[in-house]
Amino acid sequence: QVSWKLADHPTLPKGKTLALIVLDGWGEDKPDEYNCIHVAQTPTMDSLKQGAPEKWRLIRAHGKAVGLPTEDDMGNSEVGHNALGAGRIFAQGAKLVDIALASGKIYEGEGFKYISECFEKGTLHLIGLLSDGGVHSRLDQLQLLLKGASECGAKRIRVHILTDGRDVLDGSSVGFVETLESDLAKLRENGVDAQIASGGGRMYVTMDRYENDWDVVKRGWDAQVRGEAPHKFTNAVEAVKKLRENANDQYLPPFVIVDENEKAVGPIEDGDAVVTFNFRADRMVMLAKALEYQDFDKFDRVKVPKIRYAGMLQYDGELKLPGRYLVSPPEIDRTSGEYLVHNGVRTFACSETVKFGHVTFFWNGNRSGYFNPEMEEYVEIPSDVGITFNVQPKMKALEIGEKARDAILSRKFDQVRVNIPNGDMVGHTGDIQATVVACKAADEAVKMIIDAIEQVGGIYVVTADHGNAEDMVKRNKSGQPLYDKSGKLQILTSHTCQPVPIAIGGPGLAAGVRFRNDVPDGGLANVAATVMNLHGYVAPNDYEPTLIEVVNN
Ligand code: 3PG
Ligand code: CO
Repeated sequence: QVSWKLADHPTLPKGKTLALIVLDGWGEDKPDEYNCIHVAQTPTMDSLKQGAPEKWRLIRAHGKAVGLPTEDDMGNSEVGHNALGAGRIFAQGAKLVDIALASGKIYEGEGFKYISECFEKGTLHLIGLLSDGGVHSRLDQLQLLLKGASECGAKRIRVHILTDGRDVLDGSSVGFVETLESDLAKLRENGVDAQIASGGGRMYVTMDRYENDWDVVKRGWDAQVRGEAPHKFTNAVEAVKKLRENANDQYLPPFVIVDENEKAVGPIEDGDAVVTFNFRADRMVMLAKALEYQDFDKFDRVKVPKIRYAGMLQYDGELKLPGRYLVSPPEIDRTSGEYLVHNGVRTFACSETVKFGHVTFFWNGNRSGYFNPEMEEYVEIPSDVGITFNVQPKMKALEIGEKARDAILSRKFDQVRVNIPNGDMVGHTGDIQATVVACKAADEAVKMIIDAIEQVGGIYVVTADHGNAEDMVKRNKSGQPLYDKSGKLQILTSHTCQPVPIAIGGPGLAAGVRFRNDVPDGGLANVAATVMNLHGYVAPNDYEPTLIEVVNN
């Protein structure tokens, strides 16, 4: 039985409107021409940094500070928002899968037993993101799973690949496919009929999120389940090389691998087993629904084979989706959102579709829906569909700012929480000029929200979930930009390992509140206790310590 009542903060008052702004993909790094945040005009964020030094600091947003396996793991929005919302550091999917594979426990679990019953007569299909990005999936985990499944009796295996170029360099897909092909060749030498069956770029095929564009999932379904796609190849390396002539890794069109009679080698059939091998939820939930739900009306599936399906993890704890999974997800319980609602803090959360689940679902510990609909309002602004965001770098920043402003001025909420996506979503396109425009737009949205806070006498907390826009090039160890063989600058589309800023302020901030200097390693998980304090409460004992203290002048 959880005791939800939070103790009163000894000095900080309740009832101040608090704006909690998360800039997506906004890290701190040296000022140079590839630091789009530095290049862009960002007067609001600059003034927070140059203002009172005890009200601005950096916090850790990558690696172990957010529950990732190693310090080389860049931050990402899932683990970042989980940490921000939950106030504690949980071993995340990437790590839990590593442990389950290393110990072999993955093969003893219910989920694996369930799918392995198809191994005798059916095919095992593995669908997921093929890279070593470590954000949604990892190639080495797929390799171990392939080996383990074949040792456990899988005789026919088909891999449906999604090429990356977003968490890793564009163009790296070719190498990943070559590695996978050589692994599959080894399996074939050992008598396992193993092949790549289909593929496509992650942003165009399968990995949509938050129901932004079901056509993305449909394109994948047609290739993976029906064996139909506009492009047919007999070899996956050839396919990726050829399709890259007109698209980058993220956006490759769907293709299927066919035999000498032009027949697809691996559509999903009755009696087959399917595993989606991504550990991260947001971009697998939609496919999981298509695979699992009897009543499904988002697109015409045409063919609905009777399969046994398991996710690498369970992707949504509230929907229990999918019902079967190979590794139990982190149990992110007692999040700050749930506590605050129990203590009467009325909450408003908003972003545009592509980041909406970040400030709701991830924030609340991978849980969809409200804790208490009477206390909360979540507003989703529809994202533009079918474009890459370098074309529209302002995205919906203005609209998010307006919604937040209105929510603040309405005085109906104690916490108004937003995610401003620009730095991240445009940063991922690798378009430096557009990312500069994106950062400016994000800064303007911050200003709009802070201005509203000024009007109501409230408090603001501005931070970010991980780095991205502050560094747009791949660098060597001494920090120099790297060029490829043809002399082209290597653009960094991915996140970074940089720390992120956090700033506090506003007329409602009590006198004497400042950042402590005894939590130098503070990270995203320390923000929840900080925010609870600013709402007038003391955080639960097991939360990471608050970043602030109150000094009497
Ligand atoms: C994506 O899913 O777009 C990237 O892999 C990670 O970006 P995010 O963690 O910022 O959502
Ligand atoms: Co991102």
